[in-house]
Amino acid sequence: MAQSKDTVRRTLVVALLLSVAFSVIVSTAAVSLRPLQQANEQLSIRSNMLAAAGMLTPGATDDEVRAAFDEFEVLLVEMGTGEIVGPERVNAPSAADFDDRRAARNPELSRSLDNDPAGINRQVKFAKAYVLRDGDSIERIVLPVHGYGLWSTMYGFLALEGDANTVIGLGFYEHAETPGLGGEIDNPRWRAQWPGKKVYEDEDKTEPRLRVVQGGGPSEYHDVDGLSGATLTSRGVSNMVKFWLGGQGYAPFLEKVRQGDI
Ligand SMILES: Cc1cc2nc3c(=O)[nH]c(=O)nc-3n(C[C@H](O)[C@H](O)[C@H](O)COP(=O)(O)O)c2cc1C
Repeated sequence: MAQSKDTVRRTLVVALLLSVAFSVIVSTAAVSLRPLQQANEQLSIRSNMLAAAGMLTPGATDDEVRAAFDEFEVLLVEMGTGEIVGPERVNAPSAADFDDRRAARNPELSRSLDNDPAGINRQVKFAKAYVLRDGDSIERIVLPVHGYGLWSTMYGFLALEGDANTVIGLGFYEHAETPGLGGEIDNPRWRAQWPGKKVYEDEDKTEPRLRVVQGGGPSEYHDVDGLSGATLTSRGVSNMVKFWLGGQGYAPFLEKVRQGDI
């Protein structure tokens, strides 16, 4: 009688060979798809930036997004002074290549914060500003901003008109607030409140007045209505705006824009 080939040893060898073969396939796929994944992430961040700046055409192709993004000049701004610096100050080949999120973890390129309303612990010493020019004048300014909500750090862009005071829009490309509650920061109806709001008062452009507050009505210059059931996320957005548009953030840079020095 023929002996069965299904011995325990054979079964184990076949299982081992199969798991080695599949792990090679999976890791090769993960490594080779990484550049594509990174390109897609970058494109999605750029679309979000353009949306905040009111420049994302519905149904825009990837090439159209890249072309619209390339119209912006990328500046490196020293936080707290508003000075524009070269990419060598941040060890990057160009301002556009500077990875500000990674820099926030680098002790040479960031500082820990005592006054930290945005709950970010460390702030980059130099941050990007995207500027769209029309001849000699600045038309739009887009600032990367981030701050802690209830559960997560919310990363996004705040876009201002060339007066460095009137909001064009605010949008987030990454956060982990609860869908339906804090996650409503992505809701177009809530976002529609931002355009036209003023960051600063006419007389004092050092401290931002723009804030998120429960009951902030559409007619208010500086107040955006908070999200109901998500007071903590709303407060996080408000604190984020206060920090990044204040003296420790972009306020000195925005003053230089208003003076025509940029
Ligand atoms: C499961 C769960 C998820 C929640 N997610 C959020 C959130 O993402 N953002 C937020 O501000 N509040 C969230 N809350 C509510 C807060 O705990 C808190 O009650 C709320 O911020 C108070 O806001 P209100 O005064 O507008 O109700 C969540 C509550 C629960 C139970």
